Amino acid sequence: MNTTPITPFGRAIHAPEAGTPVTSLDVPALRALVREHHLVLLRGFDVFATPGELSAYCEGFGELSVWPFGTVLELVEQEKPEDHIFDHSHMPMHWDGMYREQIPEFQVFQCVHAPGPGNGGETTFSQTAAVLENTDPETAARWSQVTGTYQRTMEYYDSVTVSPVVDAHPVTGTPVIRYNEPTAADDAGFVNHPDLAFTGLPEDQLAEFHTGLRAALYDPAHLYAHTWQTGDVVITDNYTLLHGRNAFTSGAPRHLRRVQVLGTPALDNPGLVR
Ligand SMILES: [Fe+2]
Repeated sequence: MNTTPITPFGRAIHAPEAGTPVTSLDVPALRALVREHHLVLLRGFDVFATPGELSAYCEGFGELSVWPFGTVLELVEQEKPEDHIFDHSHMPMHWDGMYREQIPEFQVFQCVHAPGPGNGGETTFSQTAAVLENTDPETAARWSQVTGTYQRTMEYYDSVTVSPVVDAHPVTGTPVIRYNEPTAADDAGFVNHPDLAFTGLPEDQLAEFHTGLRAALYDPAHLYAHTWQTGDVVITDNYTLLHGRNAFTSGAPRHLRRVQVLGTPALDNPGLVR
């Protein structure tokens, strides 16, 4: 496959000509590419007209996560959202499945409609294996002492998860970061705050821990903010990356679809308490 690098990580494949179906790309080869480079963008291809077509395509990558709504999450701003996921606000860094029975290995996104130039809404991805490689060992050792306890109630779950901040990739054993970035409690524009608690370091070192970790996650050497174009398909490695969202203009026509693909074998969530 003819790929071009994305900075600072990931690969892009551009359609050789208009009308090329995305289904003409070899799925096992794409899956291997995502495992190696963590993110693959397919741009300019003929994509799926319906959620059902997207879901059927994703089954080629593995078993799908099934939610109360099915396999395809429609990410569209809601008028009065009960949760920040359906708002136009910033979405803090997190990993998918952290509150679910199983952690998906891949996310497949299709951009049904881009928010439009100047409207924000980039999906942000941080390459956490690279973050740890580029962090001095003393700092990484301090981060390794920290455990996050996360509690979140929303339409689809009410869960508590406990996870070390530095964990091993479930397949390769490479150190990766599992972290849900806190949002200021007084940020009234953020709908439905989760309850987050961090232990393992003295209280006075925790603020420095969050500041340092956040700076590393958002460092341009590790962060890719994807600016959506209508028709984009992006496939990502949820075992290694954390992701979030830049705020966007309320009312912008941003519409993404997301499917989660489980690993082979599926990974039971090691941190789920209930
Ligand atoms: Fe997510």
